[in-house]
Amino acid sequence: MERLERIATKVESLGGDFYITFDEAERFYLTGLSSTFGIALVGKGGNFFITDGRYIERAKEVRNFKVILWKGWEEFTSLLKELKAESLIVDPYRLKAKTYKELSNKFYLIDSEGFLNELRAVKSEREISLITRAVQIAELSLKSVLHLLKPGITEIEFRRALIEAFFKLGGKGEAFPTIVASGRNSAVPHWETGNREIRDGDLVIVDFGTVYGGYVSDITRTFLVGNVSNEARRIYDAVLEAQELGVRELSAGKSCREVDLKVRKFLEDKGYGKFFTHSLGHGIGVEVHEAPTLSQRSKEVLKEGNVITVEPGVYIPEIGGVRIEDDCLITERGAFRLSHLPR
Ligand code: GLY
Ligand code: MN
Repeated sequence: MERLERIATKVESLGGDFYITFDEAERFYLTGLSSTFGIALVGKGGNFFITDGRYIERAKEVRNFKVILWKGWEEFTSLLKELKAESLIVDPYRLKAKTYKELSNKFYLIDSEGFLNELRAVKSEREISLITRAVQIAELSLKSVLHLLKPGITEIEFRRALIEAFFKLGGKGEAFPTIVASGRNSAVPHWETGNREIRDGDLVIVDFGTVYGGYVSDITRTFLVGNVSNEARRIYDAVLEAQELGVRELSAGKSCREVDLKVRKFLEDKGYGKFFTHSLGHGIGVEVHEAPTLSQRSKEVLKEGNVITVEPGVYIPEIGGVRIEDDCLITERGAFRLSHLPR
C-alpha cells in the first residue's frame, strides 16, 4: 500500500488527479496480476483497475484497487468524469499515440517521462527474493544442461534444452529470447540463435534468464570450447577483469555514468575500447531492461535496492566475442552478486 500512497503523493505534487497507465509491465507492477489488457489509475481519489472479461474473475484477487469491467471508451470517460478527474499524469513512452490522442481530446494530460521508473528501480524485499529465485533457477538450469554444450550441438538445440530446464526447475520460460552465439556469431552482441553447430575452438556466448513470480533474471557466460586461440583467451581475461572491476565499483550513491566510464577506460587501456559497443548494464525487475542504466549517457545515481546487471563485452569480427554478466543488488556497502555461476 505504501507504494500506492507514494505514487498518489507524486501525482498530486505534479498537479494531476490520477496517474493513468495502459502498460502491461506497469499494470503487473501495480496490481500483481498479469494481463494483456487493462488500465490502472492511481491517485488521491482512489486506485482503480479496469480490465475486460478475460481477467475480471482473477482481478478479484487484486488488493488495494477497485476493479471495474471495461465496457468501452465512452463508459470509461464517464467513470473518469465521475471521479472528477480533469488532469491525468501520463508517461508518453508507455502510451500508444492513438490512446494519447483519445485521452487528450477529453482531459488535460501532464507528460511525465518515466513516471514510475525511479520507484520501480528500488526493489522491495519481496521483489529481491523473486529476482533471486529467478537467478537461481536460471543458474541451476544452465548447470543441468551444460554437459550438452560441446562440438556437434547446434545453437538452437542448446537453447531448447535450456528452455526445457527453466520449466522443469520452476521458471516460467525465457525472460527474453536466449542468445547462444558460437564462433564468429559471438562477435554479434545480440546474435539471433541459429542452426550453426558448435565446434572445437569456438567462443560461445550464452545470455539467458527466466521468469519467477513475474520477475526476471539476466545472466551471460562465455565458454571456451576445446582449443581456443591465445587471442580469444586474452579477450576473455580482459572482459573478466573488466566485469570484476565493474562490480567492485558499484555502491549506493555512485554515478552510473562513472561506473560505465571506469570499465570502458579499463578496456580501452587493454586495446579493446572500440570493441565494447554497448553500455555496461541495466536494471532488471518486471522487465529485462529497467532503470537505472550503467551507460555513458546515464544521469542516474545508484540507490540501495537497485538490482542491476554488469555486462561488459568485447566483440571482434572474425575472431569472436566475450560477454560476462551478473545480476547485482546495490547496498550501502557495495554490490552483492545474486548470480554465482563460476566465471
Ligand atoms: N540479456 C539481454 C539484454 O541484456 O539485452
Ligand atoms: Mn543484460
